[in-house]
Amino acid sequence: MNDNAQFVPTTEGNEIPSFQTTWSAPSNIALVKYWGKKELQIPCNPSVSFTLDQCRTTTSVRFERLKDNLDHLSLALQYDGKPVPSFEPKVKTFIDRILPYAPYLKEYHLLIDTINSFPHSSGIASSASAMSALAAAIMDLEKQIYPSLTAEDQIKKCSFLARLGSGSSARSVEGPLVLWGEHTATPDSSDLFGVRLTKAADVFKTYHDTILLVDKGQKEVSSTIGHNLMHNHPFAENRFTQAKAHYQALLTILEMGDMDGFNDLVEREALSLHAMMLTSSPSYILMHPNTIQIIQEVRRYRKTTGLNLTFTLDAGANVHLLYPAHEAEKIDQFIASDMRKYCQDNELIYDRVGTGLKKV
Ligand code: PMV
Repeated sequence: MNDNAQFVPTTEGNEIPSFQTTWSAPSNIALVKYWGKKELQIPCNPSVSFTLDQCRTTTSVRFERLKDNLDHLSLALQYDGKPVPSFEPKVKTFIDRILPYAPYLKEYHLLIDTINSFPHSSGIASSASAMSALAAAIMDLEKQIYPSLTAEDQIKKCSFLARLGSGSSARSVEGPLVLWGEHTATPDSSDLFGVRLTKAADVFKTYHDTILLVDKGQKEVSSTIGHNLMHNHPFAENRFTQAKAHYQALLTILEMGDMDGFNDLVEREALSLHAMMLTSSPSYILMHPNTIQIIQEVRRYRKTTGLNLTFTLDAGANVHLLYPAHEAEKIDQFIASDMRKYCQDNELIYDRVGTGLKKV
């Protein structure tokens, strides 16, 4: 399955003049976490996420055909119509990396305009949704050049390209549940792109995710640094083994609709991710006191009410509260009355599980 060559175009395609397209891609929240990678975004363990619905990036790309092929990239980047040269190096690195798989990009000047649905400074990483929206626009151009490209191959390559920009972005193309990373329990799984998990019980297809914005600032240690600290980490191999076992267990939990199993596994995954940060060298702490307060209250609430409220964490202080749609009315009341106070400026985002990319 780890065959990059399948993504290199081998035939001459149509000559497409200037072309414009707009795509919206969601963020995602991992249930089994990706933490630790090899060269070119090959994950050290499989990860699974819920695709979100409301937290999205919308990206328009105008591909202007050049008179001569350039040997370098030509692009301009805007955020909501305003130039943002500071974002350009990251996008250039991404496009340079995908050029072997999308060589036709050298024939165009790219004018990229992007906007996030969530506030710019919300502590929510936008790289997953941003890279997947951009990859989707590029794959739309590829479809014009190679009209025989099937919808299935278009999606697969979109996830493949997005992964080269930001690993977790491979999981932001489809929904509601996506696996990225090889595992023997799922024969079509791959380290190169995400695949949908199709056998989950219905309850997991309408899950809610309310994001408590404990800290809206930039996190102190980036994910790139965090992934790197997994090299030479004393617990790295055990962590990768644990994540593989968790994936296998999660498959059964999802299929059986096992809510207790889900709550237990998802929380242990979140805390394992942060345990890696606490025990790396140098060590660091991204949770805030309010993160811990929320965790304690969520556990207390679940115990006293029997309702299936659980939490997960990304690489930051914010908390994702996960709960089934049929319990949302009561849990939303609890969140409004007891959880808002832990959020910076009382801000939170009500989101739920979604289906992935949308052409605008
Ligand atoms: O995609 P990256 O390189 O930003 O890494 C994301 C890692 C986590 O968000 C912490 C976990 C995950 O699987 O999404």
